[in-house]
Amino acid sequence: MHLYGTQNVTENGHLTIGQVDAIELTKTYGTPLFVYDTALFRERAQGFINTFKNAGVQAQVAYASKAFSSVAIYQLAAEEGLSVDVVSGGELYTALKAGFPSERIHFHGNNKSYDELILAFDSKIGCIVIDNFDEIVALKQLSEARQQKMHVLIRVTPGVEAHTHDFITTGQADSKFGFDLNNGQADRAFTLLQNHAYLDLQGMHCHIGSQIFDTAAFSLAAKKISDKMGEWYKESGFISQVLNLGGGFGIRYTEEDTPLQPAVYVDDMIKAVQQEMAAFSMPMPEIWIEPGRSLVGDAGTTLYTVGSQKEVPNTRNYLAVDGGMSDNIRPALYDAKYEAVIANKMNDQLVSTYTIAGKLCESGDKLIEDIKLPKAESGDILAVFCTGAYGYSMASNYNRIPRPAVVFAEKGAHQLVVKRESYEDLVKLDLPLTIGKEVNR
Ligand code: LLP
Repeated sequence: MHLYGTQNVTENGHLTIGQVDAIELTKTYGTPLFVYDTALFRERAQGFINTFKNAGVQAQVAYASKAFSSVAIYQLAAEEGLSVDVVSGGELYTALKAGFPSERIHFHGNNKSYDELILAFDSKIGCIVIDNFDEIVALKQLSEARQQKMHVLIRVTPGVEAHTHDFITTGQADSKFGFDLNNGQADRAFTLLQNHAYLDLQGMHCHIGSQIFDTAAFSLAAKKISDKMGEWYKESGFISQVLNLGGGFGIRYTEEDTPLQPAVYVDDMIKAVQQEMAAFSMPMPEIWIEPGRSLVGDAGTTLYTVGSQKEVPNTRNYLAVDGGMSDNIRPALYDAKYEAVIANKMNDQLVSTYTIAGKLCESGDKLIEDIKLPKAESGDILAVFCTGAYGYSMASNYNRIPRPAVVFAEKGAHQLVVKRESYEDLVKLDLPLTIGKEVNR
């Protein structure tokens, strides 16, 4: 059994997270419950930050908060000296509510609304990552009308697309994001932005994929963008201050996954950029990265209460829990794989094979297929590991299931950071029927 971060097992066979008994947590907060091992988050953050420091390279490590966005996680990110990337007005608002230093907020998105851009300007965020030509027009208008400066990056698609162990290079990247590096779009964006009175072009950004285990794709993307930086330098003397290489660092969900230490990815990126910069006799830019999953993924565990069981003779045994695709859509959406344990039977033999079913009205609502566990009974607590990224953030109220609570645990202490939704919360935006009634006229 693989345990993550501070996870451990008590003498009576209970799982602990952050030196807190997981079963006690379920008694206090109920289930389903997301529990974050904040010490592991801190360790991962410092792993990235220190690698840059050790290499003597100026950097920003921006937490990609789409992986899990809440007031407390932004505060934790601030404590650890991270920057953050936000992709919507909602994420930006949450970061601001958390008191996150606005100059370390980077704003992404392929269709930022006017109101979102206003919020970004009003709160004087650190940088807007420009995605398309319409955004250039909007930002020029806005910054000129307000006579307000804004740092910007151009998001490019370098023609390198990576997933897990494979990557492909494509001449013309078919992506809804960014300016193509190879067909002249990125050059046009550069020309439109160069020497603008208010939009201060800092450099380029790319994000080549997610759950990547190999450093080669990152290095290739870094090389391609560095080459473009060199070209712009030669042609117009423009010196890029920033090269943002996005997120996508892979993590271990199951034994099939073999992630590298953050230092390995980062060192290879740095080397690739240093080589190109030397070739063009250009100063080294700041390198920014945007890890999401690799900061919060394995720090998160979901605790469920086991309910009913169903045997399909000669086929499978279903073990149902009190959550499912409403708190973790990833198995249904991406066929994502997870490992789990019975948190109150950690020392018991793995004698049974189950398919873990959720409680939602959908046959595809299965969290894990064919997992070996101790013999399970109603009331046991199932802990699914590695649910910290894109679990809560992609949660829904399908079937009007209230979204779970979220708790942080560290050094024997625990704290509620997102309350469990109540039935009252579920109807708070609903309004009673009035159409067709006299009162409506
Ligand atoms: N930066 C940009 C511009 C991104 O688009 C993303 C993720 C990241 C950073 C962070 O990537 P990470 O380090 O977390 O891999 N819902 C999917 C993942 C979608 C990722 C979208 N972009 C999942 O559950 O696997």
